[in-house]
Amino acid sequence: MKRLERALAILGGVLLLALLGAIAAGVGLVRRGLSARAQPTRMEEMMALQMRSMATPARVRDLKNPVQPDAALLAGGRHHFADHCASCHANDGSGATEMGKNLYPKAPDLRAPRTQELTDGEIFAIIQNGIRLSGMPAWGEEHGDDRESWALVSFIRHLPKLSPEEQREMEDLNPRGPGERGEDQDEQEFLQGGDEKAADPAMPGMKH
Ligand code: HEC
Repeated sequence: MKRLERALAILGGVLLLALLGAIAAGVGLVRRGLSARAQPTRMEEMMALQMRSMATPARVRDLKNPVQPDAALLAGGRHHFADHCASCHANDGSGATEMGKNLYPKAPDLRAPRTQELTDGEIFAIIQNGIRLSGMPAWGEEHGDDRESWALVSFIRHLPKLSPEEQREMEDLNPRGPGERGEDQDEQEFLQGGDEKAADPAMPGMKH
């Protein structure tokens, strides 16, 4: 009987502690709110990365990049990154963009060991499947071409050595807002010109 009482007392104590912990977490949440501005704590980041690593099956982690990172492939990866990824990750992979800095968790610096020490398979899986409860979307399509994601893996490996010329070229490929697109369209129409413009002696050589 005495043992049962002791067990019940311990159980009660544990439940009380859990309740107090939950109340403290709740109060903290209410006081701090759910703002995305905060920086995750080191502990939270470590736990999230550990969980992500545990949730990646060994057969995916051990995948080797099947594509050769030659110039053409890297150029493809660079274009794709400038178009789809740079809005959060920045052309240089630093994550220093308005969106990247204000997400929770923030877009990490892809040039740093945290990313570069992932296996090819892990980076590939992240690109294909995204990261739940974060701003990182899934990009793989069910019957899509895996080579595009592998080209991105090669490009991410290349990021620490990105040249200023490559960065400049990427700036032209970054998506534009409607305002800038409108300007571009006007410019294109002007350059292609109507017939009268093409015949305009003031603009020699302007043909279709
Ligand atoms: C809308 C914003 C957004 C876009 C667009 C985006 N990402 Fe991310 N990405 C994130 C965020 C936020 C994280 C960090 C998630 C975390 O810490 O759990 C992340 C994480 C990653 C990681 C893991 C890095 C690490 O060390 O944990 C890789 C690799 C990555 N992104 C690649 C890409 C690629 C390639 C593209 C384009 C095809 C892309 N991302 C597009 C927001 C974005």
